[in-house]
Order: sequence, then structure tokens, then C-alpha cells
Amino acid sequence: MCGIVGYLGRNSAVPIVLAALKKLEYRGYDSSGIAIYNQDELKIYKEAGKIFELESALPKPELTMSNIAIAHTRWATHGEPNKKNAHPHHDKLKNIALVHNGIIENYKQLRDILCDHDDQVEGETDTEILAHVIGYFYNKHHSLEEAVRASLHLVEGTYGIAVFCKDNPKQMIAARKGSPLILGVSKDAYFLTSDVNAILTHTNKVIYLNDNEIAVLNEDNYLISTLDNVPVDPEIATIEWEASSIEKNGFKHFMLKEIFEQTTTVRHAFRGRLYDSMATARLGGLNMVPSDLRKVKRLQLLACGTSYYSCLLGKYLIERMARLHVEVEYASEYRYRNPIIEDDTLVFVVSQSGETADTLAAMKEASAKGARVMGITNGIGSTIARESDGGVYIYAGAEIGVASTKAFTSQVTILFLLGLLFGRMRGISPVQGIEYIKALRKIPAQIEEILKLNDKIREIAAKIKDSTNALYLGRDLHFPVALEGALKLKEISYIHAEGYPAAEMKHGPIALIDENMPVIAIAPKDVLYDKIISNLQEVVARKGRLFTIITEHDEQIEAMSEEVLIVPKTLSELQPILTVIPLQLLAYHVADLRELDVDQPRNLAKSVTVE
Ligand code: F6R
Repeated sequence: MCGIVGYLGRNSAVPIVLAALKKLEYRGYDSSGIAIYNQDELKIYKEAGKIFELESALPKPELTMSNIAIAHTRWATHGEPNKKNAHPHHDKLKNIALVHNGIIENYKQLRDILCDHDDQVEGETDTEILAHVIGYFYNKHHSLEEAVRASLHLVEGTYGIAVFCKDNPKQMIAARKGSPLILGVSKDAYFLTSDVNAILTHTNKVIYLNDNEIAVLNEDNYLISTLDNVPVDPEIATIEWEASSIEKNGFKHFMLKEIFEQTTTVRHAFRGRLYDSMATARLGGLNMVPSDLRKVKRLQLLACGTSYYSCLLGKYLIERMARLHVEVEYASEYRYRNPIIEDDTLVFVVSQSGETADTLAAMKEASAKGARVMGITNGIGSTIARESDGGVYIYAGAEIGVASTKAFTSQVTILFLLGLLFGRMRGISPVQGIEYIKALRKIPAQIEEILKLNDKIREIAAKIKDSTNALYLGRDLHFPVALEGALKLKEISYIHAEGYPAAEMKHGPIALIDENMPVIAIAPKDVLYDKIISNLQEVVARKGRLFTIITEHDEQIEAMSEEVLIVPKTLSELQPILTVIPLQLLAYHVADLRELDVDQPRNLAKSVTVE
């Protein structure tokens, strides 16, 4: 949510910063801008729309001029998404440029303070006010570092910022509170970024700034200290991901590539974690010995969006496999609800990015209440990874498409492993444990089979692409899958869709069913098969258009359906990893056939780092 990039080095900053900014476009893409230093002047260029608009508007000579630049791609919080409100912002005298990710909550009070000092501000956005405040203090102290410190002491809210001043174009200052900010270090340059992926082509040596830290970057050195000026000795981390993992590799969209990657990503999630000789899972990152795990009587799973749906599925899995009580809650609700945490409660926060503001806040709430909090995340070195008491990486590789796909199946794989781990301590026999392990190992090949349905799914997508509504039905473990399928469709195709437990349909949504309503049902042959058939008959009786995801040899549902998609059969606990994939592809093709921007749907951002 908003992407920041900064460069200070010996090369031309603009091409480097623009290339990096494009890699952050998934974080927000309603406007963008860049600030550079050229011939004693601070120059700021901004445009509404995507980054290519900015690129085309930049005068060619500027491309090679500056060795310093800060840039921003925006997801509007305050003020319309237009050129005026785009970042960077500058102070009154146009000495200082600032880019910001986060929300300055007390910007109105800050504006009043400035007005008391005759420094009139007309801006609409919180960031603009901060630029003016920094400018105000700069004029008093004549030190950018002092000015940034003094300003941030007044700020309430969240920020990741990068700032420079035209009086010293060999210095850049960055600070963080609540919004991710990473310093990249190479032999001849420093980089700032909201996400390591943006700078991996230049360096894999990074420092994750912590909350309330300031980094002062000069041409040949950098210093990190707290807001109160206590020096910090930072740890330099080495990122193992390859830069090539963020290319489309011949796919039309990142989302499609990421759906197809699931044969590999699911394997990465369980690789090295299956403990065959004990028929269980090994999750060393939890930092908990078996006797600690044994004491756990209740799990709380906290997340947002797609990650929340994987947690819902986790509840079905873990309760069934381990007979362990599991509560699932939206992180945004949990954080303000004063939740009850007992001594035997273990909390998991689940987040692809590891940076979602609500999930971080829920993590802090649980930690403050004394809970042990684990993270399940894809974000290597993300805030959740660093601030949790332990956890499990899903190792899905960079997920760039705004609609989450491969992260979902990897999260579910990890939650399955948790079910196995706790289950083996609480009743699953070694024979059953081995059965689970064998079935899990077959999943990647079964995903491969499902991906062969891609062309057929596109044909089905063509049949529903002009619908205005869709209903997704599932029972038991497939209810969360229905929710996830509906979310995928609505977020990228803008068709209203609802996920429902199939049996609940008769308590309301059945009123919506007519010959125009596509009903997408997940109905593999499992214990509730006969029950879901009755629910689907209710759809057919009302002339609903039935599209079903079924398992092999199911003539009965085939006869009722306008179209079927047949997925391989596995153990019921693993079946959702297979049934969700046709739904991801369906949403993808509907959106693509509607000629929509699949990877960057309107109003959305990948990593929601504001509340
Ligand atoms: C949906 C989607 C979002 C995210 C949600 C949480 O496709 O991507 O709903 O799942 O914003 O994000 P993370 O998992 O990064 O915390």
C-alpha cells in the first residue's frame, strides 16, 4: 500500500528508481511521482495514473541528471488520487522533498501549528503537511536530520518516509513507524524501498528498519539511530530470492503465472517439514518443544482477506485432525475487541506480506496480553517475521498479482502441517500420520492435472462473464473455499459474488436464484456428498445455472450441472487445496475476458499497510 523507493549513489538515479518503482506498483497505482536534484534545484515530477504515465512525462534530460532520487506510487488514503495529491511533496520554500507511506493521523493539528507560525498550508493530504513541518524545522535548525527528528516527534500515526534537501543532495534521510521500510546496501549506492523485491537486481544486502528508527544516508556511510538519537547497530540480512522470480516468464499476467506456480509452491511449503519416521510434521521455526506444544489447548488464528479464509479452513483442519479448539478472527476486529487470551492459548497471525497493518496490530494486541504469537508468512524479513515469537515461512516466492492465489494454497498446506503436528500429539496414529504425509506428497502432481483444465475453464468463464452476480456454495471444508472463490471473482472481475455454506442457501440467498444466476458449487464426493446434492437440486429447481467442481465418477452431479470441472480425489483434509484452483482460474479468465486489469484491480493494493 503505497510504494517508496530511494536511491543515493554514483549512477543516474532516475532509471534505477523508476525500474524499482514499477516493481512496487502492486502496492498502489493511482498516481506516482519522483523528486530529483538538478542544477541546484529540487525538481518534482508527478502524474495521475500508472507509472508509465510518469515515465512518459519526464523530460529526457532529467533521466541522466541526478545521483539522488526518491519516488512513490500511491494508493490514496487522504485526498483524491490526482496529480496534485501525488507524492513527492515539498515544503513551502521547495527545499525539501518527501515521500510517505502510512497515515499521519494528527495532520490537522500539525497544520494548525504551522498556521500559528504564519506558514500557511493549503494542501489536502496528510503527507503534504508533514513536508511543510519538516521545512519549518529545517529553516530553524538548518539540519535536515534535526528537522526530521523534531517533526516526527510531533507525528501521530504511521509512516515510512524518505526525504532529501536540495542544500545537500548527497544525503537522504529515512524513518519508519508502522510502515515497512528497507535500506539496501551495495558497494556504491544506498537504496530505500518498501519491499525488497524492488531492489533485488541491485543488491541482496538489506537492513530492515525498525519502528522509531531513522537512517541517515550520506554518500559513503550510513547511520541508524532511534528517534531519540540512540545509535543502533543494525543487522545486515542477505536475501536469498532471485530477482527473476518477479518476472512474468511468458504468462500474460502475474496472477496466471502464480496460479500455475502452485505445483512448486505447495511443494516448497512442505519440503523438509515431513518427518516420515515419526509420521508427523517438523516445524522448527515455532521454537517450541513438544512439551510446550502439548500444553496448548486453544489456537487463535488472525488474518485479513484471503489469509483469513485460509485460517477458516485451518480451523476445520486442525479441529478435525487434532481435536484442538481453534478460533478464527478478522485481525481488524480482534485488535479493538479486547480478546480473551488464556495461558494455554497460542496465537497465529497469518499474512502473505507479513506487513498488513491490521494483522500487525492484532499481533501486538495479543503480545501485549502476554500471548505467545507465531507468524505464518511469505514475507521474508517482514515485520511479522521479525516481531513474532516464532513461526513458519510459506516459501511461496514473490506474489505480485494483487489477488492472492499461491499464498492461499501454501498457507493451507502449513495449516495442514500444524493439524498433523498437533494431531499426532493428540490422537492421530502413526499409520494415519503416514497416510496424511503420502497424500500431501501427491498434491503437486494432482495440481498439475487440474491446471490442464485451463482451456475448459476459460470456456466456462465466457459463459458467466456477463453476469452481474454469482453464488459460490460449499459445505464443510469447502465452505471457506466458496468464500475464497467468491472473493477472487469480485476483486478482479467486479462481479458481485457471495460465498455461502450450501445448506444455508435456503435461509435467504435462494431468493436470488433465477435463470441468470450462476451458482458455482464445490461438491467433491465426501461425507456430505448426499447432503450437497439436495442443496444443488434446490438450485436446479429454481433454474439456477449450476457449475460444479466435482471429483471423478460423479454422474449424478454431472447430470444436474451446466458444466463440471473434475479434480482428482485426495484425502478430504487436502481436497480444498485442489478445489480452490479451478476457482482461481475461473476468476482470472472472467476478468481477462472482461478486459480488466487483472494484476492491478481498481481500488485495491497488495499490501494493506494502513488501518
Ligand atoms: C485477496 C487479497 C487480500 C489479502 C489481504 C491480507 O486476494 O490478496 O484479501 O489476502 O489483504 O493480506 P496479507 O495476507 O498480506 O496479510
